[in-house]
Amino acid sequence: MKLEVLVSKEKLEQIVTDLGRRITEDYKGKELVLVGVLKGGFIFLADLARKIDMDVKIDFISVSSYGNSTESSGVVRIIKDIESDVSGKHVLIVEDLIDTGLTLQYLKDLFNTKGCASVKLAAVMDKPDRRKVDLKVDYVGIEIPDEFVVGYGLDYAEKYRNLPEVYIVRET
Ligand code: IMP
Ligand code: MG
Repeated sequence: MKLEVLVSKEKLEQIVTDLGRRITEDYKGKELVLVGVLKGGFIFLADLARKIDMDVKIDFISVSSYGNSTESSGVVRIIKDIESDVSGKHVLIVEDLIDTGLTLQYLKDLFNTKGCASVKLAAVMDKPDRRKVDLKVDYVGIEIPDEFVVGYGLDYAEKYRNLPEVYIVRET
């Protein structure tokens, strides 16, 4: 297996800085809760939170949709729910990557039943060619081709999440 850089550290820094600025403007004066989607969203959430120049609350939800394969099972399972009460709050779901869209669609529907003031979606990367549901992602960092990627939170069988850049996995 070979790893080939797709999104560099510098590019990621620029993406997250821009998104943080936009989010700060859009949510000024509002009560914002960032909900990180574990595990993949943990690095993006940590970086993004530090680029948002206002008070935010942080929570996490853990879902499983992939198992250890590179193909979506289409089944979303909640492994750990959020701990705070988000009714009346503005929720921004923070995800690593949007692929088929099934996970974020499920989470958006779930949060819409919790009485939030608003529910929006943020993802560092988007693979638009793979979409199976028509879903609006409010904050997208960068569109990428239909390739399996790792790093910056994303794993292959739980490996590579800690790599600082995003790599395409090439089978050799
Ligand atoms: P979706 O439900 O198909 O949109 O997939 C959502 C999740 O699948 C993402 O948040 C990732 O955790 C995982 N995923 C999708 N594509 C990749 C990839 O290329 N590498 C690693 N994980 C991926
Ligand atoms: Mg994920």
